[in-house]
Amino acid sequence: MIATRTFTELTTRDYLQTAFLYPASIEFDGHERTIVEVGPGRGDFLFNLAKLNPEALIVGIEIKRKRVDKLISRVEARRLNNVMIIQDDAKCALPRFLRDNSVDEIHINFPDPWPKQRHSKNRTVSTDFLNECKRALKIGGTIHFITDFYDYAKAVFKNASSIPELETHKVEADVFPTYFALKWKRMGRAFTYYKFRRLA
Ligand SMILES: C[S@@+](CC[C@H](N)C(=O)[O-])C[C@H]1O[C@@H](n2cnc3c(N)ncnc32)[C@H](O)[C@@H]1O
Repeated sequence: MIATRTFTELTTRDYLQTAFLYPASIEFDGHERTIVEVGPGRGDFLFNLAKLNPEALIVGIEIKRKRVDKLISRVEARRLNNVMIIQDDAKCALPRFLRDNSVDEIHINFPDPWPKQRHSKNRTVSTDFLNECKRALKIGGTIHFITDFYDYAKAVFKNASSIPELETHKVEADVFPTYFALKWKRMGRAFTYYKFRRLA
């Protein structure tokens, strides 16, 4: 069940990296709903999604091998049977694994901000990435984006606003206390939370 669309930002080198999927036996199809988290880190938010949505497939896409190893131990310790972990760059994993119109929600909590202007091209959530999320979402599906870095938030809001099929909302609700949410909160940082809904 591999999506066939290509993603314009990807280079041949990106595609040459082999993605790792856990568990090997889980299927993408046959679930009432599919919820994806990009960059789950320690997995606090991912495991909460799995508990709250037992009928859904919960997919975590994490780029770092050590974090993936720990995520897998935690999934097993919690005996969660609706969680899939993909070790890959989310920019590659979305076109590789997620079919068109197949995902209900995509969550991106505190992505690496790359604060220096000259590094901002490394940020995951570009216009192309948002278009890729839109392709994978069902009509009515949503992208949830939270950051403590206002410059990133502004850029993402501008990128999302340039995509006619996405409706943009600023969310005022409290954010889930992930490891990074708690860390930045203790340091007094303000959070920006956006929700983008696929309209068509
Ligand atoms: C700042 S941490 C936030 C972790 C978690 N979401 C939280 O709120 O505690 C960013 C996470 O995204 C992962 N990451 C960064 N770029 C990624 C990419 N392109 N694809 C998948 N994961 C990525 C990092 O390895 C890290 O685990």
